[in-house]
Amino acid sequence: MTNLRAFGDGKLQPVAESLWSATTPVRFVGTWFPHVMTVVRLTSGELVLHSPCHMSAELAGDIARLGNVAHVVAPNWFHDLYLSDYRARYPAATFWGPALLQRQHPSLIDRRLDDDARPPWFEEMPHVELPGVLTFDECVFFHKPTQTLVVADFLMNASADNNAPLLTRLGYAFFGLNGNVTVFPVLRWFGFANRASLRLGARAMLAWNPARLIVGHGTPTADAVPERLRSALSYLL
Ligand SMILES: [Fe+2]
Repeated sequence: MTNLRAFGDGKLQPVAESLWSATTPVRFVGTWFPHVMTVVRLTSGELVLHSPCHMSAELAGDIARLGNVAHVVAPNWFHDLYLSDYRARYPAATFWGPALLQRQHPSLIDRRLDDDARPPWFEEMPHVELPGVLTFDECVFFHKPTQTLVVADFLMNASADNNAPLLTRLGYAFFGLNGNVTVFPVLRWFGFANRASLRLGARAMLAWNPARLIVGHGTPTADAVPERLRSALSYLL
């Protein structure tokens, strides 16, 4: 039987002051990935949930002890898996997402997220948009108080050990995922149509000079982040 705990145990983990993550397994074209949600407590005390993962009663209880969930962020149109559940769980929260997701699910997205958006947390956690179909119209965030870059799909930091299912190991080998920080390979291969926009986004991420990185699929890290980020983005610079 497949042990999926390697792809997330669903427990709330502290990352830094005012910052937590929770990870649950998710399957994509036969391959298991960790699915990371970031929980940010703003200076106002309100919580922002970025990239919602599968929610258990235990996780919901732990989050409730941190504060009131005021905002839920679907950072790109590919991250809509649990939005209906979150909408039911947090009916008073404001839901943010890209234009395409808002068009597809107008009842699930209240506010559009793009370069022009100025969410109430913008001063402490600004964002830049990586536009275009093959970047999923993703907005990436920089949480200033903890110097943390928060990304959903654009960057990955994942590996599969020998206990992972065969199809997952093959998938990771195919995508070149071996524990390095890397641009999601499909975006690297096919994102040439919007290279100029991606270059601007890459430069913005490097200018933030993040000390930490949380990715939607992989392990949060504080290990040589500026250097690893520059290496991952070098093909765009
Ligand atoms: Fe994703």
